[in-house]
Amino acid sequence: MTSVLSGRLDGRVAVVTGAARGIGEAIATRLAAEGAAVLLADIDGDLAIEAALRLSQSGSRAEGVQTDITNEESIAALRRRVEAEHGRLDILVNNAAILDGTPLDQLTPQRYDLVQQVNQNGALWTTLGLLDLLKASGQGRVVNIASILGVRASQDSIAYATAKGGVLNMTRALAVDLARHRILVNCICPGFVDTRMALLPDGSGHEHQTDWFRDIYIKYGRIPLKRAAQPDDIAAATLFFCGDDCRYVTGQYLLVDGGVSSTF
Ligand SMILES: NC(=O)c1ccc[n+]([C@@H]2O[C@H](COP(=O)([O-])OP(=O)(O)OC[C@H]3O[C@@H](n4cnc5c(N)ncnc54)[C@H](O)[C@@H]3O)[C@@H](O)[C@H]2O)c1
Repeated sequence: MTSVLSGRLDGRVAVVTGAARGIGEAIATRLAAEGAAVLLADIDGDLAIEAALRLSQSGSRAEGVQTDITNEESIAALRRRVEAEHGRLDILVNNAAILDGTPLDQLTPQRYDLVQQVNQNGALWTTLGLLDLLKASGQGRVVNIASILGVRASQDSIAYATAKGGVLNMTRALAVDLARHRILVNCICPGFVDTRMALLPDGSGHEHQTDWFRDIYIKYGRIPLKRAAQPDDIAAATLFFCGDDCRYVTGQYLLVDGGVSSTF
């Protein structure tokens, strides 16, 4: 994790969803290191509080909040908490999601709908639930964490890839609608990242440790940078979209994938 303390986000307040672990925790850590007060919102409230405590102990302003981004009342409670404790919101990172690798012939409408609700609709309703605070900021930033599977597909990715593709065009539509409020909306598309999402569904280990991953992606260079990403690689790119250096970029997505989308 970074120890940079530039102060470039001093005075800003940020919400990061899905921040109890993985990429969300790394983003919260980076934003806090740059001076923002950060609310780590996650359906796993205990883990979010623990993650926030670690940040507070290293001198950052951070708090964990139990939040389910598929639940309207839960988002309203998050909004009340932000307003009561900080009175403002400048940055929202819509990062929470669930993994799905259900084969096409086993997909049920219930499973498909759940993946869309969490991975696509959750980002929209969280943004709209916090919108009045972001408008009042005058320098609002929304960053949606999609995936390389928003622009590509792989075996058994129908529910997940459809949702992440939706996040990309939702980013553009929100960017157009929110420009009049000086809110910039952009999107990060991670490639392979070392988090629990890379654990194999059958419990046999970590995708990035398998022979096929090491051969195809590392040895033969399908990932030109020859490694999976660490969560703070994603956080570093996210930071650009959250700060003042991003002032004339909106409605865009950035692949943070070690170059894998440039090969075939
Ligand atoms: N890890 C990867 O290889 C990878 C690749 C591309 C994109 N991504 C994306 O990056 C983001 C973070 O992924 P990660 O790898 O850190 O995953 P993760 O599973 O480690 O973390 C996701 C977090 O989201 C939370 N969450 C799930 N449902 C929620 C809900 N309804 N409300 C609030 N919180 C909820 C979980 O509790 C968890 O803490 C996701 O959007 C994911 O799709 C990850």
